Amino acid sequence: MIRGNVSGIRKIHLAELESLVGKRSAAFCDPEILSVVCRVSAAYRREIMLNLSRGGEVLDVTVGSFECVSGGRKSDRDGRLSGVRNLHTHPLGIAELSETDESCLRETRADALAIAAIDESGNVTGCVTAYLAPDGIEKRYTTDFCDPELTQKVLLTDGLWKRARAASRRSDAPKERAILVGVGASDSDMRELAELARTAGAEIVGTATQSKAQSAATLIGSGKVEELDRLIQLKRADLVIFDNELGGGQAVRLENALGVKVLDRSNLILDIFAARAKSREGKLQVELAQLKYNLPRLLGGGSALDKQRGGIGMRGPGEKKLETDRRRIRDEIAKLERELAKLTKERNLRREKREKGALPQVALVGYTNAGKSTLMRALSKSDVYVADQLFATLDPVTRRVGEGEDAFLLTDTVGFVSKLPHEFVDAFASTLEEARLADLLLVVLDLADPEREEKRRVVEETLARIGADRNPRLVVYNKADLVVDPYFGREPDSVTVSAATGERIDVLLAEIRSRVKGGRRNG
Ligand code: GTP
Repeated sequence: MIRGNVSGIRKIHLAELESLVGKRSAAFCDPEILSVVCRVSAAYRREIMLNLSRGGEVLDVTVGSFECVSGGRKSDRDGRLSGVRNLHTHPLGIAELSETDESCLRETRADALAIAAIDESGNVTGCVTAYLAPDGIEKRYTTDFCDPELTQKVLLTDGLWKRARAASRRSDAPKERAILVGVGASDSDMRELAELARTAGAEIVGTATQSKAQSAATLIGSGKVEELDRLIQLKRADLVIFDNELGGGQAVRLENALGVKVLDRSNLILDIFAARAKSREGKLQVELAQLKYNLPRLLGGGSALDKQRGGIGMRGPGEKKLETDRRRIRDEIAKLERELAKLTKERNLRREKREKGALPQVALVGYTNAGKSTLMRALSKSDVYVADQLFATLDPVTRRVGEGEDAFLLTDTVGFVSKLPHEFVDAFASTLEEARLADLLLVVLDLADPEREEKRRVVEETLARIGADRNPRLVVYNKADLVVDPYFGREPDSVTVSAATGERIDVLLAEIRSRVKGGRRNG
Protein backbone atom coordinates (compact mmCIF):
# COMPACT_ATOMS: atom_id res chain seq x y z
CA MET A 1 0.00 0.00 0.00
CA ILE A 2 1.23 3.47 -0.86
CA ARG A 3 1.23 5.85 2.07
CA GLY A 4 0.68 9.60 2.27
CA ASN A 5 -1.45 11.95 0.20
CA VAL A 6 -2.59 9.71 -2.65
CA SER A 7 -5.83 11.56 -3.44
CA GLY A 8 -6.17 12.32 -7.13
CA ILE A 9 -3.41 9.94 -8.16
CA ARG A 10 -4.46 7.57 -10.92
CA LYS A 11 -4.69 3.89 -10.16
CA ILE A 12 -2.17 3.04 -12.85
CA HIS A 13 0.40 5.30 -11.20
CA LEU A 14 -0.34 3.93 -7.77
CA ALA A 15 0.12 0.43 -9.16
CA GLU A 16 3.42 1.45 -10.69
CA LEU A 17 4.65 2.82 -7.39
CA GLU A 18 3.38 -0.25 -5.57
CA SER A 19 5.27 -2.52 -7.93
CA LEU A 20 8.49 -0.96 -6.67
CA VAL A 21 8.03 -2.30 -3.14
CA GLY A 22 10.18 -5.41 -2.68
CA LYS A 23 12.38 -4.61 -5.69
CA ARG A 24 16.08 -4.77 -5.01
CA SER A 25 18.35 -2.00 -6.14
CA ALA A 26 21.95 -2.91 -6.91
CA ALA A 27 23.13 0.70 -6.84
CA PHE A 28 22.30 3.31 -4.24
CA CYS A 29 19.10 3.65 -6.31
CA ASP A 30 18.82 1.93 -9.69
CA PRO A 31 17.83 4.17 -12.66
CA GLU A 32 14.67 2.11 -13.42
CA ILE A 33 13.34 2.60 -9.91
CA LEU A 34 14.31 6.26 -9.88
CA SER A 35 12.69 6.96 -13.27
CA VAL A 36 9.26 5.65 -12.11
CA VAL A 37 9.42 7.76 -8.97
CA CYS A 38 10.51 10.90 -10.84
CA ARG A 39 7.91 10.53 -13.59
CA VAL A 40 4.99 10.15 -11.17
CA SER A 41 6.36 12.85 -8.89
CA ALA A 42 6.61 15.33 -11.81
CA ALA A 43 3.13 14.45 -13.11
CA TYR A 44 1.47 15.43 -9.82
CA ARG A 45 4.16 17.88 -8.61
CA ARG A 46 4.24 16.01 -5.34
CA GLU A 47 7.27 14.72 -3.53
CA ILE A 48 7.66 10.95 -3.49
CA MET A 49 9.75 9.18 -0.96
CA LEU A 50 11.30 5.69 -0.88
CA ASN A 51 12.82 3.86 2.03
CA LEU A 52 15.42 1.28 1.01
CA SER A 53 17.07 -1.26 3.26
CA ARG A 54 20.88 -1.34 3.47
CA GLY A 55 20.78 -4.29 1.08
CA GLY A 56 18.87 -2.18 -1.44
CA GLU A 57 15.31 -3.55 -1.05
CA VAL A 58 12.55 -0.97 -1.49
CA LEU A 59 10.66 -1.13 1.81
CA ASP A 60 7.91 1.41 1.24
CA VAL A 61 6.77 4.35 -0.87
CA THR A 62 5.07 7.53 0.39
CA VAL A 63 3.53 10.36 -1.61
CA GLY A 64 3.13 13.97 -0.49
CA SER A 65 4.92 16.75 1.29
CA PHE A 66 6.43 15.46 4.42
CA GLU A 67 6.84 16.87 7.83
CA CYS A 68 9.48 14.28 8.27
CA VAL A 69 10.67 12.55 5.15
CA SER A 70 11.71 9.52 7.06
CA GLY A 71 8.23 8.17 7.36
CA GLY A 72 8.95 7.70 11.03
CA ARG A 73 11.59 4.99 10.85
CA LYS A 74 13.91 5.56 13.72
CA SER A 75 17.13 3.83 14.59
CA ASP A 76 17.14 1.51 17.57
CA ARG A 77 20.65 0.29 16.83
CA ASP A 78 22.43 1.71 19.87
CA GLY A 79 23.62 4.90 18.30
CA ARG A 80 24.46 3.33 14.94
CA LEU A 81 22.75 4.26 11.68
CA SER A 82 19.25 2.88 11.15
CA GLY A 83 20.01 0.54 8.27
CA VAL A 84 17.40 2.30 6.11
CA ARG A 85 18.23 4.91 3.46
CA ASN A 86 15.74 7.46 2.41
CA LEU A 87 15.37 9.00 -1.00
CA HIS A 88 12.88 11.63 -2.08
CA THR A 89 12.20 13.93 -4.99
CA HIS A 90 12.13 17.71 -5.16
CA PRO A 91 9.78 18.46 -8.09
CA LEU A 92 10.85 21.74 -9.73
CA GLY A 93 13.19 22.22 -6.79
CA ILE A 94 16.89 22.05 -6.20
CA ALA A 95 19.15 19.26 -5.02
CA GLU A 96 19.70 20.63 -1.56
CA LEU A 97 18.71 19.65 1.96
CA SER A 98 16.20 21.85 3.73
CA GLU A 99 16.52 22.46 7.47
CA THR A 100 13.68 19.98 7.97
CA ASP A 101 15.57 17.38 5.92
CA GLU A 102 18.64 17.87 8.08
CA SER A 103 16.79 17.61 11.35
CA CYS A 104 14.99 14.49 10.07
CA LEU A 105 18.32 12.92 9.20
CA ARG A 106 19.57 13.63 12.71
CA GLU A 107 16.41 12.32 14.33
CA THR A 108 16.02 9.15 12.32
CA ARG A 109 19.76 8.42 11.91
CA ALA A 110 18.99 7.15 8.41
CA ASP A 111 21.86 5.41 6.55
CA ALA A 112 21.65 8.31 4.11
CA LEU A 113 19.16 10.88 2.99
CA ALA A 114 19.10 11.46 -0.76
CA ILE A 115 17.29 14.03 -2.83
CA ALA A 116 16.71 14.01 -6.59
CA ALA A 117 15.72 17.40 -8.02
CA ILE A 118 13.52 16.97 -11.10
CA ASP A 119 12.16 19.19 -13.84
CA GLU A 120 8.52 19.26 -15.05
CA SER A 121 9.08 16.21 -17.30
CA GLY A 122 10.59 14.15 -14.52
CA ASN A 123 14.21 14.47 -15.68
CA VAL A 124 16.75 14.48 -12.91
CA THR A 125 18.48 17.87 -12.75
CA GLY A 126 20.74 17.11 -9.78
CA CYS A 127 21.21 14.73 -6.85
CA VAL A 128 22.50 15.15 -3.34
CA THR A 129 23.19 12.42 -0.81
CA ALA A 130 23.71 13.35 2.83
CA TYR A 131 25.28 11.20 5.55
CA LEU A 132 25.11 11.71 9.25
CA ALA A 133 28.66 11.31 10.60
CA PRO A 134 29.59 11.78 14.29
CA ASP A 135 31.07 15.19 13.51
CA GLY A 136 28.25 16.50 11.32
CA ILE A 137 26.40 15.97 8.06
CA GLU A 138 28.46 15.18 4.98
CA LYS A 139 27.05 15.72 1.50
CA ARG A 140 27.84 14.35 -1.95
CA TYR A 141 26.53 16.01 -5.10
CA THR A 142 26.07 13.77 -8.17
CA THR A 143 24.06 13.50 -11.36
CA ASP A 144 22.60 10.08 -10.59
CA PHE A 145 22.59 7.51 -7.80
CA CYS A 146 24.72 4.84 -9.49
CA ASP A 147 28.10 5.69 -8.01
CA PRO A 148 29.15 2.68 -5.82
CA GLU A 149 30.82 5.14 -3.45
CA LEU A 150 27.39 6.28 -2.34
CA THR A 151 26.61 2.92 -0.73
CA GLN A 152 30.17 2.37 0.48
CA LYS A 153 29.98 5.67 2.27
CA VAL A 154 27.07 4.29 4.35
CA LEU A 155 29.28 1.51 5.69
CA LEU A 156 32.14 3.90 6.36
CA THR A 157 29.88 6.32 8.22
CA ASP A 158 28.28 3.53 10.24
CA GLY A 159 31.79 2.32 11.11
CA LEU A 160 32.61 5.81 12.44
CA TRP A 161 29.59 5.60 14.75
CA LYS A 162 30.59 2.15 15.90
CA ARG A 163 34.06 3.38 16.84
CA ALA A 164 32.73 6.57 18.43
CA ARG A 165 30.31 4.49 20.55
CA ALA A 166 33.00 2.07 21.63
CA ALA A 167 35.33 4.93 22.57
CA SER A 168 32.67 6.73 24.58
CA ARG A 169 31.68 3.51 26.31
CA ARG A 170 35.31 2.95 27.26
CA SER A 171 35.72 6.42 28.66
CA ASP A 172 32.30 6.27 30.35
CA ALA A 173 33.06 3.00 32.09
CA PRO A 174 33.76 3.82 35.71
CA LYS A 175 37.37 3.09 36.61
CA GLU A 176 38.04 0.43 39.17
CA ARG A 177 39.24 2.08 42.38
CA ALA A 178 42.45 0.44 43.48
CA ILE A 179 44.52 0.42 46.65
CA LEU A 180 48.18 -0.49 46.16
CA VAL A 181 50.00 -2.57 48.75
CA GLY A 182 53.74 -3.15 48.97
CA VAL A 183 55.59 -5.36 51.41
CA GLY A 184 59.26 -4.43 51.54
CA ALA A 185 58.77 -2.48 48.32
CA SER A 186 60.93 0.52 47.38
CA ASP A 187 59.45 3.85 46.33
CA SER A 188 60.36 3.13 42.75
CA ASP A 189 58.63 -0.30 42.94
CA MET A 190 55.48 1.44 44.13
CA ARG A 191 55.73 4.11 41.44
CA GLU A 192 56.01 1.47 38.79
CA LEU A 193 53.12 -0.50 40.28
CA ALA A 194 51.03 2.67 40.13
CA GLU A 195 51.98 3.16 36.50
CA LEU A 196 51.06 -0.43 35.69
CA ALA A 197 47.74 -0.09 37.53
CA ARG A 198 46.90 3.07 35.59
CA THR A 199 47.82 1.39 32.34
CA ALA A 200 45.36 -1.39 33.23
CA GLY A 201 42.68 1.29 33.68
CA ALA A 202 42.54 1.60 37.49
CA GLU A 203 42.20 4.77 39.50
CA ILE A 204 44.55 4.70 42.48
CA VAL A 205 42.73 5.77 45.63
CA GLY A 206 45.17 4.68 48.33
CA THR A 207 48.45 3.02 49.23
CA ALA A 208 49.53 0.83 52.13
CA THR A 209 53.01 -0.49 52.85
CA GLN A 210 54.67 -2.78 55.33
CA SER A 211 58.41 -3.22 55.73
CA LYS A 212 58.40 -7.02 55.80
CA ALA A 213 56.12 -10.03 55.52
CA GLN A 214 54.23 -10.74 58.73
CA SER A 215 52.17 -13.80 57.99
CA ALA A 216 52.49 -16.84 55.76
CA ALA A 217 48.71 -16.98 55.41
CA THR A 218 48.07 -13.42 54.24
CA LEU A 219 51.56 -11.94 53.77
CA ILE A 220 50.60 -8.80 55.70
CA GLY A 221 49.88 -9.02 59.43
CA SER A 222 46.35 -9.11 60.88
CA GLY A 223 46.60 -5.48 62.03
CA LYS A 224 47.47 -4.44 58.48
CA VAL A 225 44.56 -6.47 57.12
CA GLU A 226 42.22 -4.52 59.43
CA GLU A 227 43.80 -1.21 58.41
CA LEU A 228 43.39 -2.16 54.76
CA ASP A 229 39.77 -3.11 55.37
CA ARG A 230 39.08 0.34 56.84
CA LEU A 231 40.87 2.04 53.95
CA ILE A 232 38.77 0.06 51.47
CA GLN A 233 35.55 1.23 53.17
CA LEU A 234 36.76 4.81 53.40
CA LYS A 235 37.90 5.04 49.80
CA ARG A 236 35.16 2.82 48.39
CA ALA A 237 37.85 0.72 46.70
CA ASP A 238 36.98 -2.25 44.46
CA LEU A 239 40.39 -3.73 44.17
CA VAL A 240 43.65 -4.28 46.05
CA ILE A 241 46.87 -4.76 44.11
CA PHE A 242 49.96 -6.20 45.79
CA ASP A 243 53.42 -5.43 44.48
CA ASN A 244 54.49 -8.82 45.79
CA GLU A 245 53.73 -12.14 44.22
CA LEU A 246 50.91 -13.78 46.16
CA GLY A 247 50.52 -17.52 46.54
CA GLY A 248 47.11 -18.93 45.55
CA GLY A 249 46.08 -19.47 49.16
CA GLN A 250 47.21 -16.00 50.22
CA ALA A 251 45.16 -14.27 47.56
CA VAL A 252 42.05 -16.29 48.39
CA ARG A 253 42.37 -15.64 52.13
CA LEU A 254 42.90 -11.92 51.55
CA GLU A 255 39.89 -11.73 49.27
CA ASN A 256 37.74 -13.46 51.84
CA ALA A 257 38.96 -11.12 54.60
CA LEU A 258 38.69 -7.90 52.59
CA GLY A 259 35.64 -8.61 50.44
CA VAL A 260 37.23 -7.13 47.31
CA LYS A 261 39.25 -8.54 44.46
CA VAL A 262 42.95 -9.00 45.28
CA LEU A 263 45.55 -9.11 42.52
CA ASP A 264 49.30 -9.16 42.46
CA ARG A 265 51.75 -7.44 40.15
CA SER A 266 51.91 -10.44 37.80
CA ASN A 267 48.12 -10.55 37.39
CA LEU A 268 48.30 -6.90 36.52
CA ILE A 269 51.04 -7.34 33.92
CA LEU A 270 49.22 -10.27 32.38
CA ASP A 271 46.04 -8.23 32.27
CA ILE A 272 47.79 -5.42 30.39
CA PHE A 273 49.28 -7.95 28.02
CA ALA A 274 45.87 -9.51 27.50
CA ALA A 275 44.46 -6.18 26.44
CA ARG A 276 47.37 -5.46 24.07
CA ALA A 277 47.99 -8.80 22.31
CA LYS A 278 47.03 -8.58 18.66
CA SER A 279 48.42 -11.55 16.77
CA ARG A 280 47.20 -15.11 17.22
CA GLU A 281 50.58 -16.03 18.68
CA GLY A 282 50.56 -13.08 21.08
CA LYS A 283 47.05 -13.94 22.29
CA LEU A 284 47.91 -17.59 22.78
CA GLN A 285 51.00 -16.67 24.74
CA VAL A 286 49.03 -14.41 27.07
CA GLU A 287 46.27 -16.96 27.47
CA LEU A 288 48.77 -19.64 28.38
CA ALA A 289 50.57 -17.41 30.85
CA GLN A 290 47.24 -16.41 32.45
CA LEU A 291 46.09 -19.97 32.85
CA LYS A 292 49.39 -21.15 34.23
CA TYR A 293 49.66 -18.27 36.63
CA ASN A 294 46.12 -18.64 37.86
CA LEU A 295 46.09 -22.42 38.03
CA PRO A 296 47.20 -22.73 41.68
CA ARG A 297 44.62 -20.17 42.73
CA LEU A 298 41.86 -21.85 40.76
CA LEU A 299 42.79 -25.28 42.02
CA GLY A 300 42.95 -23.92 45.53
CA GLY A 301 39.16 -23.78 45.72
CA GLY A 302 38.59 -20.17 44.77
CA SER A 303 37.35 -17.36 46.93
CA ALA A 304 33.94 -16.14 47.91
CA LEU A 305 34.33 -13.50 45.22
CA ASP A 306 34.78 -15.86 42.33
CA LYS A 307 31.24 -15.40 41.11
CA GLN A 308 31.50 -11.62 40.92
CA ARG A 309 34.82 -11.55 39.17
CA GLY A 310 35.50 -9.47 36.11
CA GLY A 311 37.42 -6.33 35.18
CA ILE A 312 41.13 -5.87 35.77
CA GLY A 313 43.02 -9.11 36.13
CA MET A 314 40.25 -11.19 34.65
CA ARG A 315 40.16 -9.90 31.11
CA GLY A 316 41.60 -11.26 27.96
CA PRO A 317 41.67 -14.37 25.88
CA GLY A 318 41.67 -16.61 28.98
CA GLU A 319 38.74 -14.81 30.61
CA LYS A 320 36.04 -17.39 29.93
CA LYS A 321 38.25 -20.30 30.60
CA LEU A 322 39.18 -18.98 34.02
CA GLU A 323 35.58 -19.46 34.98
CA THR A 324 35.10 -22.91 33.54
CA ASP A 325 35.66 -26.24 35.16
CA ARG A 326 38.99 -26.05 36.91
CA ARG A 327 39.83 -29.66 36.20
CA ARG A 328 39.79 -28.97 32.50
CA ILE A 329 42.31 -26.18 32.75
CA ARG A 330 45.28 -28.52 32.66
CA ASP A 331 43.96 -30.07 29.42
CA GLU A 332 43.44 -26.61 28.09
CA ILE A 333 47.02 -25.63 28.94
CA ALA A 334 48.31 -28.70 27.12
CA LYS A 335 46.17 -27.84 24.11
CA LEU A 336 47.38 -24.26 24.03
CA GLU A 337 50.97 -25.41 24.32
CA ARG A 338 50.48 -27.67 21.30
CA GLU A 339 48.90 -24.89 19.31
CA LEU A 340 51.63 -22.49 20.29
CA ALA A 341 54.29 -25.02 19.38
CA LYS A 342 52.76 -25.18 15.90
CA LEU A 343 52.86 -21.41 15.55
CA THR A 344 56.43 -21.36 16.85
CA LYS A 345 57.36 -23.89 14.21
CA GLU A 346 55.82 -21.69 11.54
CA ARG A 347 57.68 -18.69 12.95
CA ASN A 348 60.92 -20.68 12.86
CA LEU A 349 60.29 -21.60 9.24
CA ARG A 350 59.74 -17.97 8.40
CA ARG A 351 62.94 -17.13 10.23
CA GLU A 352 64.87 -19.82 8.38
CA LYS A 353 63.64 -18.41 5.12
CA ARG A 354 64.76 -14.99 6.24
CA GLU A 355 68.12 -16.38 7.20
CA LYS A 356 68.53 -17.87 3.77
CA GLY A 357 68.38 -14.30 2.55
CA ALA A 358 71.26 -13.84 4.98
CA LEU A 359 70.26 -10.36 6.02
CA PRO A 360 71.78 -9.41 9.36
CA GLN A 361 69.25 -9.24 12.18
CA VAL A 362 69.10 -6.42 14.65
CA ALA A 363 66.72 -6.45 17.62
CA LEU A 364 65.57 -3.57 19.78
CA VAL A 365 65.37 -4.49 23.46
CA GLY A 366 64.77 -2.37 26.50
CA TYR A 367 62.55 -1.50 29.38
CA THR A 368 58.96 -0.77 28.57
CA ASN A 369 58.42 2.83 27.38
CA ALA A 370 62.13 3.44 26.61
CA GLY A 371 61.12 4.38 23.07
CA LYS A 372 61.83 1.20 21.09
CA SER A 373 58.85 1.50 18.79
CA THR A 374 59.58 5.17 18.13
CA LEU A 375 63.17 4.30 17.34
CA MET A 376 62.04 1.50 15.07
CA ARG A 377 59.89 3.97 13.23
CA ALA A 378 62.69 6.51 12.97
CA LEU A 379 65.10 3.89 11.65
CA SER A 380 62.75 2.18 9.23
CA LYS A 381 60.43 5.13 8.59
CA SER A 382 57.54 2.73 9.10
CA ASP A 383 54.36 3.30 10.99
CA VAL A 384 54.82 1.04 14.00
CA TYR A 385 52.25 1.56 16.76
CA VAL A 386 53.65 4.00 19.33
CA ALA A 387 51.83 4.93 22.51
CA ASP A 388 52.76 6.49 25.80
CA GLN A 389 51.63 3.37 27.55
CA LEU A 390 53.50 0.51 29.07
CA PHE A 391 53.78 -2.46 26.72
CA ALA A 392 52.31 -0.91 23.60
CA THR A 393 54.40 -3.48 21.74
CA LEU A 394 53.51 -7.04 22.45
CA ASP A 395 53.90 -8.77 19.16
CA PRO A 396 57.32 -8.55 17.63
CA VAL A 397 57.44 -6.59 14.42
CA THR A 398 60.21 -7.11 11.88
CA ARG A 399 61.06 -4.62 9.14
CA ARG A 400 63.73 -4.44 6.52
CA VAL A 401 65.86 -1.31 6.74
CA GLY A 402 67.85 -0.10 3.75
CA GLU A 403 68.68 -1.61 0.39
CA GLY A 404 71.31 -3.91 -1.11
CA GLU A 405 74.47 -4.49 0.86
CA ASP A 406 73.38 -2.03 3.52
CA ALA A 407 70.11 -3.81 4.30
CA PHE A 408 69.36 -5.41 7.65
CA LEU A 409 66.28 -6.67 9.46
CA LEU A 410 65.09 -4.78 12.50
CA THR A 411 62.80 -6.36 15.11
CA ASP A 412 60.96 -4.55 17.88
CA THR A 413 60.40 -6.75 20.95
CA VAL A 414 58.11 -6.69 23.93
CA GLY A 415 59.17 -4.22 26.63
CA PHE A 416 60.91 -5.65 29.67
CA VAL A 417 59.79 -4.93 33.19
CA SER A 418 61.14 -5.87 36.60
CA LYS A 419 59.83 -8.90 38.49
CA LEU A 420 58.46 -10.40 35.32
CA PRO A 421 56.60 -13.57 36.27
CA HIS A 422 58.49 -16.61 35.03
CA GLU A 423 55.29 -17.97 33.43
CA PHE A 424 55.42 -14.88 31.33
CA VAL A 425 59.01 -15.32 30.19
CA ASP A 426 58.27 -18.97 29.35
CA ALA A 427 55.17 -18.10 27.42
CA PHE A 428 56.88 -15.37 25.44
CA ALA A 429 60.01 -17.42 24.87
CA SER A 430 59.33 -17.83 21.18
CA THR A 431 58.99 -14.11 20.57
CA LEU A 432 61.92 -13.23 22.79
CA GLU A 433 63.83 -15.73 20.68
CA GLU A 434 64.03 -12.96 18.10
CA ALA A 435 66.36 -11.16 20.50
CA ARG A 436 68.40 -14.27 21.25
CA LEU A 437 69.12 -14.89 17.59
CA ALA A 438 69.94 -11.30 16.69
CA ASP A 439 73.35 -10.36 15.31
CA LEU A 440 73.16 -7.08 17.17
CA LEU A 441 71.05 -6.01 20.12
CA LEU A 442 70.18 -2.35 20.43
CA VAL A 443 69.71 -1.85 24.16
CA VAL A 444 67.50 1.22 24.35
CA LEU A 445 67.70 3.34 27.52
CA ASP A 446 65.60 6.37 28.37
CA LEU A 447 67.99 9.24 29.17
CA ALA A 448 65.26 11.21 30.88
CA ASP A 449 64.37 8.42 33.29
CA PRO A 450 65.97 8.86 36.74
CA GLU A 451 65.62 5.12 37.31
CA ARG A 452 67.46 4.35 34.09
CA GLU A 453 70.33 2.42 35.67
CA GLU A 454 68.00 0.22 37.71
CA LYS A 455 65.99 -0.52 34.60
CA ARG A 456 69.15 -1.25 32.69
CA ARG A 457 69.93 -3.91 35.28
CA VAL A 458 66.49 -5.46 34.73
CA VAL A 459 67.13 -5.50 30.99
CA GLU A 460 70.47 -7.24 31.54
CA GLU A 461 68.84 -9.80 33.84
CA THR A 462 66.08 -10.49 31.35
CA LEU A 463 68.56 -10.87 28.49
CA ALA A 464 70.44 -13.39 30.61
CA ARG A 465 67.20 -15.26 31.35
CA ILE A 466 66.47 -15.66 27.66
CA GLY A 467 70.08 -16.55 26.81
CA ALA A 468 70.80 -13.35 24.91
CA ASP A 469 73.49 -11.96 27.22
CA ARG A 470 76.34 -12.82 24.88
CA ASN A 471 74.97 -11.22 21.74
CA PRO A 472 76.89 -8.21 20.45
CA ARG A 473 75.18 -5.09 21.63
CA LEU A 474 75.07 -1.38 21.17
CA VAL A 475 73.65 0.85 23.90
CA VAL A 476 71.34 3.53 22.55
CA TYR A 477 70.56 6.45 24.84
CA ASN A 478 67.22 7.77 23.66
CA LYS A 479 65.17 10.92 24.35
CA ALA A 480 68.21 13.22 24.07
CA ASP A 481 65.77 16.10 23.46
CA LEU A 482 64.51 15.82 27.05
CA VAL A 483 67.79 16.39 28.90
CA VAL A 484 70.09 19.39 29.11
CA ASP A 485 73.44 17.83 28.32
CA PRO A 486 72.67 14.53 26.61
CA TYR A 487 76.18 13.73 25.36
CA PHE A 488 78.09 14.40 28.56
CA GLY A 489 79.64 11.36 30.25
CA ARG A 490 78.21 8.70 27.93
CA GLU A 491 80.15 5.46 27.68
CA PRO A 492 82.21 5.12 24.49
CA ASP A 493 80.33 2.11 23.18
CA SER A 494 77.02 3.91 22.85
CA VAL A 495 75.09 6.27 20.62
CA THR A 496 72.88 9.05 21.94
CA VAL A 497 69.82 9.93 19.86
CA SER A 498 66.35 11.35 19.94
CA ALA A 499 63.99 8.99 18.18
CA ALA A 500 61.25 11.60 18.39
CA THR A 501 63.14 14.46 16.73
CA GLY A 502 65.33 12.25 14.52
CA GLU A 503 68.49 13.74 16.03
CA ARG A 504 71.57 11.58 15.25
CA ILE A 505 69.49 8.76 13.79
CA ASP A 506 71.88 8.87 10.81
CA VAL A 507 74.81 8.33 13.19
CA LEU A 508 73.03 5.35 14.74
CA LEU A 509 72.23 3.89 11.31
CA ALA A 510 75.87 4.17 10.25
CA GLU A 511 77.00 2.55 13.51
CA ILE A 512 74.55 -0.35 13.09
CA ARG A 513 75.69 -0.88 9.51
CA SER A 514 79.34 -0.93 10.41
CA ARG A 515 78.65 -3.49 13.13
CA VAL A 516 76.56 -5.91 11.10
CA LYS A 517 78.71 -5.67 7.96
CA GLY A 518 79.67 -9.10 6.75
CA GLY A 519 76.26 -10.67 7.21
CA ARG A 520 74.88 -13.08 9.77
CA ARG A 521 76.81 -13.94 12.90
CA ASN A 522 75.71 -17.57 12.71
CA GLY A 523 74.68 -17.56 9.10
P1 GTP B 1 56.80 -0.70 24.94
O1 GTP B 1 55.96 -1.01 23.74
O2 GTP B 1 56.02 -0.52 26.18
O3 GTP B 1 57.93 -1.62 25.12
O4 GTP B 1 57.40 0.81 24.72
P2 GTP B 1 58.52 1.32 23.71
O5 GTP B 1 59.86 1.15 24.33
O6 GTP B 1 58.32 0.73 22.35
O7 GTP B 1 58.23 2.89 23.71
P3 GTP B 1 57.50 3.79 22.62
O8 GTP B 1 58.29 3.90 21.37
O9 GTP B 1 56.07 3.34 22.54
O10 GTP B 1 57.63 5.22 23.33
C1 GTP B 1 57.13 5.49 24.62
C2 GTP B 1 56.87 6.99 24.76
O11 GTP B 1 58.10 7.72 24.69
C3 GTP B 1 56.00 7.56 23.64
O12 GTP B 1 55.17 8.54 24.22
C4 GTP B 1 57.00 8.21 22.70
O13 GTP B 1 56.43 9.28 21.97
C5 GTP B 1 58.04 8.72 23.67
N1 GTP B 1 59.36 8.84 23.04
C6 GTP B 1 60.06 7.90 22.38
N2 GTP B 1 61.24 8.39 21.94
C7 GTP B 1 61.31 9.68 22.34
C8 GTP B 1 62.30 10.74 22.22
O14 GTP B 1 63.36 10.60 21.61
N3 GTP B 1 61.99 11.93 22.81
C9 GTP B 1 60.83 12.13 23.48
N4 GTP B 1 60.63 13.34 24.00
N5 GTP B 1 59.89 11.17 23.62
C10 GTP B 1 60.12 9.97 23.06
